[in-house]
Amino acid sequence: MMNPYIQEIETEFKLALQERDHPLKFCVLATEGLNNAPQSRLIVLREMTSDFKFTFFTDERSGKVAQIKNNPKVCLLFYHPIKKIQLKVEGIAAIVEDKGILEKKWSSLSTVSQKNYTTDQAPGSKLVENKDIEYLKNKNYFCILEVQAQVVEYLKLREVNHFKVQFHKDINGWVSEFLVP
Ligand SMILES: Cc1cc2nc3c(=O)[nH]c(=O)nc-3n(C[C@H](O)[C@H](O)[C@H](O)COP(=O)(O)O)c2cc1C
Repeated sequence: MMNPYIQEIETEFKLALQERDHPLKFCVLATEGLNNAPQSRLIVLREMTSDFKFTFFTDERSGKVAQIKNNPKVCLLFYHPIKKIQLKVEGIAAIVEDKGILEKKWSSLSTVSQKNYTTDQAPGSKLVENKDIEYLKNKNYFCILEVQAQVVEYLKLREVNHFKVQFHKDINGWVSEFLVP
């Protein structure tokens, strides 16, 4: 029988991918900065498989991409404020290199979304004036990030007795352990 917490997580993520403002559509992606200090930022969840592989879109020139190339160990943090569920995912990030997949996803984006990946300067570059931003017509820096979960921690806040369970994968699938919340 499938673990009920895994099932709940999967169901919520499926909803998140369908509903525009679902809280699990957003998470904090934490990486190790190039100066070894932690770095984090909000990011939109684009896809998730039943094996907890998460997909995100970004600009290949962004800091997070360089940080992941340096150290692929990342942490994702999601929060569902109505259900009071926090999900912490420890995983390994990879940058999708397959040109066919990149092209297919790029073509599926709206023109407005595509524009986000075409600034002439890299994200985070200093601007003299805000009007300096220019968008390239014939080049893009669209990048797909995938994070394969290794450990998923589920914390549910309750009126009485908070509850925490952690999952990791072994040869038989995802195994759960209850933790002190
Ligand atoms: C609600 C929200 C959603 C965001 N979604 C994304 C996203 O899907 N991809 C992305 O690269 N940046 C996204 N950002 C911007 C990032 O938080 C961040 O500022 C940017 O990616 C640069 O991060 P970096 O320099 O640490 O790589 C989002 C910001 C907010 C506030």
